[in-house]
Amino acid sequence: MKVLVATEKPFAKVAVDGIRQEIEAAGYELALLEKYTEKAQLLDAVKDVDALIIRSDIIDNEVLDAAKQLKIVVRAGVGYDNVDLAASTAHKVVVMNTPGQNSNAVAELVFGLLVFAVRNFYNGKAGTELKGKKLGILAFGNVGRNVARIAAGFGMEIYAYDAFCPKEAIEAAGVHAVDSTEDLFDACDIVSLHIPATPETKNYINYDLVNRLPKGGVLINTARKEVIDEAGLMKLMEERDDLKYVSDIAPASAEDFAAKFPGRYFATPKKMGAQTAEANINAGIAAAKQIVGFLRDGITKFQVNK
Ligand code: 3PG
Repeated sequence: MKVLVATEKPFAKVAVDGIRQEIEAAGYELALLEKYTEKAQLLDAVKDVDALIIRSDIIDNEVLDAAKQLKIVVRAGVGYDNVDLAASTAHKVVVMNTPGQNSNAVAELVFGLLVFAVRNFYNGKAGTELKGKKLGILAFGNVGRNVARIAAGFGMEIYAYDAFCPKEAIEAAGVHAVDSTEDLFDACDIVSLHIPATPETKNYINYDLVNRLPKGGVLINTARKEVIDEAGLMKLMEERDDLKYVSDIAPASAEDFAAKFPGRYFATPKKMGAQTAEANINAGIAAAKQIVGFLRDGITKFQVNK
């Protein structure tokens, strides 16, 4: 059996070493395709592999067609909007993610970006503190929960809304549960997005919603660029010069945002949320174990295309 790690944005070497150990201990072969720049390289590399470990790498019908022996794809991470699930199912390929494995890394970056934003991107002028501010967490999954844990250390007042998580579970974590996304934006100084990119959430964060933030509001996005209605956000930020937008996923119109909103907008050059040695080790090794578990024992826990 041959397992390919195909990562346009590579894991830390220590994580690749751990993945290799798991795969070779099972008697399988490990191949690496890192930092590839052309889809053709991926199409070529998948030709003879049984299993695939990826990150945000795009797995579409063309890749699945090329991967004649492929049985399983594990997205080492949480969001699997980069994998065509219907095409995978049609090709009889199992798709899994590794929930929770990189969530602390993403949550820590939220605060790295937030301090940077509220201190005016370190321009020397007096900024504000996070202590006492109201933080809204949109979606209370693994990342949202970690954000709440860290926010408590900063002394923030923490609110959350999650359409799929009962209010009691949010309150049990010491967080104020509100009744809707609108209520969250009304109640909070800062809103942090942790929703997945799905057809339902596309452009969900729009002009009207963000306009509910109070004066000096900050929107922080470490989720996906697709959830933002970029034209709406841009219009609003043109009208309201008190708002800031910080993101770990550059908008499609990143150049316009950067040109129009100096001192109020920042995006990391490459998605960095999960880019820590620890998250790479956790997610990478979990992916390797899930592949071995599936190929050897038929375990389908964490399958997302059932
Ligand atoms: C995820 O969905 O797990 C995160 O967005 C991290 O993505 P990455 O593996 O591409 O850094």
